[in-house]
Amino acid sequence: MHNITLINGDGIGPEISDSVVKIIKASGLDINWDIQTAGVDVIEKEGSPLPQRVLDSVRKNKVALKAPVTTPIGKGFRSVNVQLRKDLDLYANLRPCKNLPNVKTRFDNVDLVVVRENTEDLYAGVEEKIDENTAHSIKIITRKASERICRFAFDYALKNGRKEVCVVTKANIMKLSDGLFLDSYRNVAKDYPTIKQREILVDNLCMQLVQDPSRFDVLVLPNLYGDIVSDLTAGLIGGLGVAQGANIGLDCAVFEPVHGSAPDIKGQNKANPTALLLSAIEMLKYINENEHALKIEQALFKTLNENNKTVDLGGKLSTTEFTDCIIKNLL
Ligand code: NAI
Repeated sequence: MHNITLINGDGIGPEISDSVVKIIKASGLDINWDIQTAGVDVIEKEGSPLPQRVLDSVRKNKVALKAPVTTPIGKGFRSVNVQLRKDLDLYANLRPCKNLPNVKTRFDNVDLVVVRENTEDLYAGVEEKIDENTAHSIKIITRKASERICRFAFDYALKNGRKEVCVVTKANIMKLSDGLFLDSYRNVAKDYPTIKQREILVDNLCMQLVQDPSRFDVLVLPNLYGDIVSDLTAGLIGGLGVAQGANIGLDCAVFEPVHGSAPDIKGQNKANPTALLLSAIEMLKYINENEHALKIEQALFKTLNENNKTVDLGGKLSTTEFTDCIIKNLL
């Protein structure tokens, strides 16, 4: 039996976690979920939104499924999500983005992968208040982290039959920091002669993505651009409710959707569990449970093809009704 950490999050986190746990169980796979709470709700009792026990659990089990956790804007604790990725050195954020069956969007030929550096850039959290009216955030880019993420992107491309890895920067303006990321990409690319190389500025990328996403294959980006661009690409395939993700390091991996805790629909049984379910399917492949991964994927696709959808995709089903349809289609 697999031991897997489940961080069930807050906001819509617990609702979509319940759905995914139920579906995996119904597929016939026994998982021993090590449930770990995190976020604002645990601060009062434990003094931190990310208690040590959560990190220990992921380190021990090596694999986690994570639902979203709220990060209060402005003052307070650092984001649980950023901290978790940093503490566990989950340096690669992988966000595959592909059309789903019977989910109509502007384009029906989206099939790209966002590879986002996960540990540095403006997300390193190095900020200082200079005076009442001035604040600085330091953008940290190192050759070590940049080469590591570029190598991850090229290796991913090789393993998954992808043809091109395109590096995304704003190196024309941030000549030193983004320039270093670009230079690291060029160095690494020399080791992958069979994969096409391409360089693009992030603003041009955004324009081209909304014109014709089929122009792109694998994208590799520093942290901030990766965060923003992957929400854009989520929009290309039907929105945040269907956008999956994974944070991968050398020792462990945390699978989580792109979306946040969606406080606007919390507790209303409206959330789409698909993004977390697709993340869980990738997790099952990662632990070599390919048969169950495929079975669940087919049940999800069948459910969508039957036009059974949640509200965000133009359907009428609640989270629990949608979950029940998928479970029915597993049988
Ligand atoms: P959000 O992703 O939570 O929501 C944006 C919009 O998408 C909302 O209208 C929401 O209802 C909708 N949406 C998101 N997921 C959905 C789903 N599964 N089904 C149906 N609709 C869905 O982004 P927002 O509002 O900017 O962030 C809310 C909180 O989540 C913030 O505290 C933020 O820091 C946190 N967050 C956490 C992440 C994580 O845990 N990895 C990632 C992104 C944000």
